[in-house]
Amino acid sequence: MAKTMEELVSHLKTSGFVFQGSEIYGGLANSWDYGPLGVEVKNKLKQLWWDTFVKRNPFNIGLDSSIILNSNVWKASGHIDGFNDPLIDCKKCHSRFRADKLILDFDPNKIIGSMSNQDLENYILESGIICPKCEAKDFTNIRQFGLMFKTSQGVIEDENSVVYLRPETAQGIFINFKNAQRTLRKKLPFGIGQIGKSFRNEITPGNFIFRTREFEQMELEFFYDEKEDQNWFEYWVNEVEKFLQKIELAKDSYRLNDIDQEDLAHYSKRTIDIEYNFPFGWGELWGIAHRGTFDLNAHQTLSKQDLTYLDTITNSKILASVIEPSVGVERLMLAIFWQAFCEEDLGDNNSRIVMKLPYNLVPYQVAVMPLQKQQNEQAKQIYLDLLNDFDATFDETGNVGKRYRRQDAIGTPFVVTYDFDSDNDQKVTVRNRDTMQQERVEISILKTYLKSKF
Ligand code: GAP
Repeated sequence: MAKTMEELVSHLKTSGFVFQGSEIYGGLANSWDYGPLGVEVKNKLKQLWWDTFVKRNPFNIGLDSSIILNSNVWKASGHIDGFNDPLIDCKKCHSRFRADKLILDFDPNKIIGSMSNQDLENYILESGIICPKCEAKDFTNIRQFGLMFKTSQGVIEDENSVVYLRPETAQGIFINFKNAQRTLRKKLPFGIGQIGKSFRNEITPGNFIFRTREFEQMELEFFYDEKEDQNWFEYWVNEVEKFLQKIELAKDSYRLNDIDQEDLAHYSKRTIDIEYNFPFGWGELWGIAHRGTFDLNAHQTLSKQDLTYLDTITNSKILASVIEPSVGVERLMLAIFWQAFCEEDLGDNNSRIVMKLPYNLVPYQVAVMPLQKQQNEQAKQIYLDLLNDFDATFDETGNVGKRYRRQDAIGTPFVVTYDFDSDNDQKVTVRNRDTMQQERVEISILKTYLKSKF
């Protein structure tokens, strides 16, 4: 059946996956909290990424750097000078636009890469661009809008106390390159992975958890010697695709976009964006960027610290090149939720909502329920025993049909029911979320049975 983003959001809110941020105070625009079920999916997704890209990869190690860094980090990275957008307002209807986007919508062939704000402003005035909302031709001057959240550290607020919340986790890795390499005696090639919060004062947040001002990133910076012939870029694109298979994302729901040279970010030599077919259209899911030596070079220049790597075979100093696969946790969750969310027609005017989440990301692997109150004690015993080895929940309210639907709706793959016969035959009924088939399983082998399914 056709589904909409509104239906998904409503389902996630009412079933305990995602809540509106600061809801009791009327909310805070574009902020979301992860409920008891959402946090389980999030943690499992992050753990799976960590296992894949850090722990079980033969080259890589991990890191957890600070959110607030010395402001010179952002000077070197280019964020203080370049991480902002030129904004312009319509004087009549007060709508706000990005000046460069306004021009490109008017003339897609216009090359705006090297235009200053004054150039952009003049072009908008002289070419007679009209406001897309009210068609007026009168615009304000351009203002540069910084995307970094600024705050101050310490008791005295002055220009020396200014600090920023990190807009990406990547820079925390670059500034620790030497520490990690030296202490772990790593040889090139090797990567450093990190998961953590990033903050961007986005002008146009939205589409639920797709673009928010506070989000989490899972980033890997892979360092290697450019002279090696191994094609590390392809290797990492391939590893990312393998991860997408691990979380069972349908192959026809995403595509690879090799970004045109003129659209690349200032630090990138080549970027492939993995784009997902979101309910509002194709959008960037995961970026794989070839950053060359841009970052280590920039930090070496500003910090005046030697960030080269000594190749002990050739006895030469190398500035390592970098491949960076970077993905947002919540954006990936949106893709996963969207794919999983199904309404199935069961005939006879009956339907059910099922979250067909991959088994490795479900909040609960198994729910245990007594058929009726009389079997509560026995069912509870099974539940407590399963809890040692599985993510289990106990569900005792409502009739059996309702409880099955409730577990389908949150994606629980198996429901174990203790019924009238269980006392006698020491068996329980195990129902499968996807097929709705039921099987009688001996209680003594229930754990082995369930383990074989995961
Ligand atoms: N270190 C490189 C970097 O940060 P990016 O393309 O700006 O590159 C990487 O971000 C990924 O982070 C994106 O592909 C997306 O998944 C996620 N992301 C970026 N901005 C986001 C936002 N405002 N809300 C949610 N996720 C975001």
